Amino acid sequence: MAKPIDELIVQDKGLVSREIFVDEEIFKQELSRVFARAWLFVAHEDQIAKNGDYVVSKMGTDTVIVTRDMEGEVHVLLNTCTHRGMRLCRNDMGNARTFSCPYHGWSYSMDGRIVETPGDLAGVPGHATYYHGELDKKDWGLVRAPRVKVYKRTVWASWDPDAPEFDDYLGDMKQYLDYALDGRDGSPGNNEMIGGILKWRVPSNWKFAPENFIGDNYHDISHRSVDLVGINPSGGTGRRDDEPEDATTIGFPKLGHGVIGEMPYQKEPESAGWAANPEVSEWYRKCHDARVERFGDEHRVSMTVGTIFPNMSFHGRQPRTIAVFHPISPTEMEMWRIFLVDRDAPDAVKDMARHYHLSYSGPGGLTESDDMENWSYATDSSRGEISRSIYFNYEMGLGHARVVPHLEGAVENGEFTEENARIFYRRWAEFMKAGSWDELFPGKGPGPGGSRGAAESAPADAEAASVDAAATAETK
Ligand code: FES
Ligand SMILES: [Fe+2]
Repeated sequence: MAKPIDELIVQDKGLVSREIFVDEEIFKQELSRVFARAWLFVAHEDQIAKNGDYVVSKMGTDTVIVTRDMEGEVHVLLNTCTHRGMRLCRNDMGNARTFSCPYHGWSYSMDGRIVETPGDLAGVPGHATYYHGELDKKDWGLVRAPRVKVYKRTVWASWDPDAPEFDDYLGDMKQYLDYALDGRDGSPGNNEMIGGILKWRVPSNWKFAPENFIGDNYHDISHRSVDLVGINPSGGTGRRDDEPEDATTIGFPKLGHGVIGEMPYQKEPESAGWAANPEVSEWYRKCHDARVERFGDEHRVSMTVGTIFPNMSFHGRQPRTIAVFHPISPTEMEMWRIFLVDRDAPDAVKDMARHYHLSYSGPGGLTESDDMENWSYATDSSRGEISRSIYFNYEMGLGHARVVPHLEGAVENGEFTEENARIFYRRWAEFMKAGSWDELFPGKGPGPGGSRGAAESAPADAEAASVDAAATAETK
């Protein structure tokens, strides 16, 4: 039997039990306590551009159909027939007004002119005869995620009707995510997918990946060979030459998100990172100038890597991608990568980004391969009877977090630290223990006082988060 959560995650010592990476019971519990409650990334709008378009995605171990109905509204529907469970849609994506079950022929409509709500049951073979007209079709529509949010061309959903508003869920981490989703000149939501989505399985617990992207600069030694090869598009050395000079890690203890990047209001690097092609380099330089003009010296961040709790990470700059880590079992996950570029970028820019992204990330990406090797072997070497009984060490930088003045509820931890990993596992522990969103996010639920209720108290709440985080970290 697994230990209590507080013995699995020992906050004040920076210890994390290996059980949480291999144990079947803990895995089942995190599916219900984390994945059935949190906001999860499910799709990019390019996958459902036209009315009737759909793409099959995942939320935890459930498969869902993300679909744009005939009026353009986006729905997230459980991909299982309500009759006897057949997988309703077995394509990856397509365009359909109706989904018909291959088992006994029940059909569900995406057309609001035929059914009250898209996803409702529209047709049942033998309804008048075999069912004697007695089956109430209204009760047997597809199960839908009650909360769906389209944000800057990305689609998110939660199974929990009491989840906070998506904006509140992101908090001030939003501006870092925005950097990845906005155009290089700062134009809001200016991004498109290059090609399709890469999907592959890795024999690793899913948590190794978001933990890596939330702020592990320490593992750079793993990428030594990629650095030597020099896959970057700058013409210089290394795998990425366009990083902020003052890179640090910033975490949001009350939210579980974090980033390797820079503090707001600092000067971004000029765009020398694409110098291998003068046309591309010039386009990035112009974008940079437009960005400076648009934002001035305020509200500018440029960053490299971040995680939105629990299982979505992104590279915001070079490369510019979204990564999603779907749990399959305690010791296996499915990784997804979506590559982004400005919609209005010239072909040369898109082409260079595509080549660079593929050499960097994905199952054949040189950098991603290094990471997968580490996570897979760390998972496997934690399965044994003796090895699963000991703890991982996350004590680097314990007690050295500093409150960030301009970001609500944030702490800054320096470039090399395990503070952001501790923040991730602290939030994970809170999800595993909490009975409801009231405990996870007091005052931000849909009820009175929450942001979907009457009064809004974000500043005071966020300030408390910041103070609490600093206290937890024993601010130096
Ligand atoms: S399982 Fe779908 S119609 Fe029977
Ligand atoms: Fe890495």
